[in-house]
Order: sequence, then structure tokens, then C-alpha cells
Amino acid sequence: MPETAGGTTGATIELENLTKRYPGHPQPAVDDVTMEIRAGETVVFVGPSGCGKSTTLKMINRLIEPTSGRISINGEDVTHIDPVRLRRKVGYAIQSSGLFPHMTVAQNIALVPRMTGWSRPRIRDRVAEMLDLVGLDPAEFHGRYPRQLSGGQQQRVGVARALAADPPVLLMDEPFGAVDPITRDHLQDELIRLQRELHKTIVFVTHDFDEAIKLGDRIAVLRERSHIAQFDTPEAILTNPADDFVSGFVGAGAALKRLNLSRVRDVEITDLPVATVDDPLQTVFDRLRESGTNEILLLDRRGRPYKWLRRGDLMRAQGSLARAGALVTDTVTRDATLRDALEAVLTDNAGRVAVTGRHGEYTGVVDVQTLMNSVHELLEADRLDALEHQHDLEESRAARTHAEQEGGAGGRTE
Ligand SMILES: Nc1ncnc2c1ncn2[C@@H]1O[C@H](COP(=O)(O)OP(=O)(O)O)[C@@H](O)[C@H]1O
Ligand SMILES: [Mg+2]
Repeated sequence: MPETAGGTTGATIELENLTKRYPGHPQPAVDDVTMEIRAGETVVFVGPSGCGKSTTLKMINRLIEPTSGRISINGEDVTHIDPVRLRRKVGYAIQSSGLFPHMTVAQNIALVPRMTGWSRPRIRDRVAEMLDLVGLDPAEFHGRYPRQLSGGQQQRVGVARALAADPPVLLMDEPFGAVDPITRDHLQDELIRLQRELHKTIVFVTHDFDEAIKLGDRIAVLRERSHIAQFDTPEAILTNPADDFVSGFVGAGAALKRLNLSRVRDVEITDLPVATVDDPLQTVFDRLRESGTNEILLLDRRGRPYKWLRRGDLMRAQGSLARAGALVTDTVTRDATLRDALEAVLTDNAGRVAVTGRHGEYTGVVDVQTLMNSVHELLEADRLDALEHQHDLEESRAARTHAEQEGGAGGRTE
């Protein structure tokens, strides 16, 4: 496996003619699936309930044994290797985290490393590293029990556990299906950030097409028995769905869904003058005057956006900022989708939102005008692509018809 300073990166997964028949069922649950998942990519399986997504996924780590077919990881046939050895290559995270309730967070995360025979100090360091990776303070969380955590925190621990033994492959079965929509958004953003650091091969199952668009480098739209209806990039599926089944899955509002494909990092993030709560009022005034803007963002002691202050607020502040200005209610990270950002700026009465870094610290601002311009450019580019694709199709159709006519005419003269 390729090793980098950050750990083991992704491996290629090949599924060849993979089939699962459950006893007593006339139809296979998964029927002859062949696909290649490239090292380091995130592939999302999306399809209706019961179409065989989980069964396909669980055959990759052999929680379910295939009836026939072959699975290989980085060229090695793993169809018959020891399942414990396979677990080291393949991390697994599921809905409702699947944590063992009688074990602490640290014990849960240590599970596979312990099975694999790591030394105690190495396991201890790894647990702390994993908690930090998923945004939980190791000192605070390692001794807690799952029931003492929120749903989102449990899910984070589930991801930490799946990654603990540094496997090249991560399988995730509707991992964010049981949390509320806002927490789900955050968990998705974090998975994107993690993946940019780790470059694992991730196979992610969901029935939510928006989630698939947001997370997938490629999406496999599956119909019954895991038949692949289309396996392509989100852009290609949105702009050229293969058939009516896929169109049905894409659903209405493809243009809006397109916004899930671009991130805040892709648009221009501007700087606003800032001050911190400890700055004297005079400094706040001076910054505002120097910048020539009408507004300044007040940060808390940890550098996180705290309050929007306008000139008028300062005039009325009369020596104290305690009651002046408007609290910051919403922020986005650079990994948030343009759709999330658009929602934030459209509900903000001044039409802007602060962008924050990994620890919630201020990094800039995006405003409604910037976003609208980017959205317009994106949709325009898509429209041109689709037109070009249409043009290519028509040309190849015309060429085929022409060749057939030539061939037909030739046949008659002989
Ligand atoms: N252990 C099992 N025994 C018999 N049938 C099963 C079993 N597990 C799943 N199935 C059936 O296999 C099909 C695919 O299930 P599953 O892979 O869980 O679908 P999905 O994850 O897409 O919702 C369904 O028809 C389901 O009823
Ligand atoms: Mg399932």
C-alpha cells in the first residue's frame, strides 16, 4: 500500500461478476455486478431502498459472503482471505454509529488496532490522533460512553473507529442517515475535509441523491439487484442522465442541485475589517475608517466571528460594545457547498456570511453578489457542455446513418 506522512492512502477495488443469492429467494439480491473503484476516489452508491446497496457494500468486507464473483483490493484477490486480515484493509462505518454501548469512546476506537496486536502506547496515541482528526477533544471525549454523546458526536466516533487501523479503504453505509439535517451537513463537510487530507478509497451508500452529489467523485446509480443504471461523475449524471430511471432519481431542480457540486473555496472570499472583543473602541473606529467600509466584524477571543457592527451601531454604542451590533448566527466553512452558502446569504438581511476555518476561526466573507455571479457562470458552462454533447451525438448519428445508407446501396449493387 502506498504510505505517505499522513498514513495509508487509497487502494483500487475491483468487483467482478459479484452476485449474492439469499436462500429461499428466487431472485438474487445482487446480480452480476462488475465495477472498478479507483484508488483515492469517493464512489457513492445511490438507489432506492432494497435495491441491494448494503448487500453489495458488505460483500466488499465480506460481512456478507458473495455467492459468486470476485473482489480484489489493489490487485490482491480478497475473496477468500482471512476476514480479520481484510478488516485491516477495510474500515466500516454505519448508521447510528454502531458503537458498543458498554465500551468507552477510546475502547471503541481501539478495537481494530487491538485486534491487530498494536502496542498499548501506539494505540493510545492513535486514539488521540483519531479523535482530533474528527474534531473531538481527546481529553474530553476518550473516557465517555456512547450514550453520553450527541448523535453527531457518536457518528464522528464511528468514523474515527473505522479509520483507526489506517485502512486504505473506507466503507460507509448511510452513516449520516439518523442525524438531523444541520448535523448531517456538518458531518458531510467534515468527511470532505478528511478525505482531502487522507485520500482513502471511500465507498459510500445513500438513498439521498443530494448527498451523493455532494460527496461523490463518481456516483453509481443502482436499480434493482444492484444493476448499474449509470456510473459517472455528478456533473455528467446531472447534465446527461442515462435514462428515465436516472432522471427520476435526479429529480426536479437539477440546476439547484448543481450548486451542491461547487464549494465556497471555489468562489472569491473577500476580507472584511475585523477587530476583537478586547480591542478598545477607538481601534474599532479607526479600522472602520481606514477600510472605508460600512461594517466591521467583531471576533471573540478565539478569533471566531461574534458580532457584525455597522457605523451606526458604533455611534450609538456610547463607549461600550456590549450591546451594540448583531450576533453572528450562521457561518460556513470553505468546504460548504454553494447551495449551503446561498441559503446562508439569502436568509441574512445584509446578504453575506462569514467563512470559518477548521476551529471556527474567521477566514473571510462571501456575499450574495459574488455567489450569484459564480452560480450564473456555472450554469452557463453546463448549458454549453450539454449543447456540445448534443451536437456530438447528432453528428455521430448522422455519420452512422450515412454509413448505413452507403453500406445498403453497396449491398444492392453486388
Ligand atoms: N439476510 C437477508 N436474507 C434475505 N434477504 C435479504 C437479506 N438481506 C437483504 N435481503 C434482501 O436483499 C435485497 C437487497 O437488500 P439491501 O442490500 O439491504 O438493500 P438496500 O441497502 O439497497 O436497501 C432486499 O430485497 C432485501 O429484502
Ligand atoms: Mg441498506
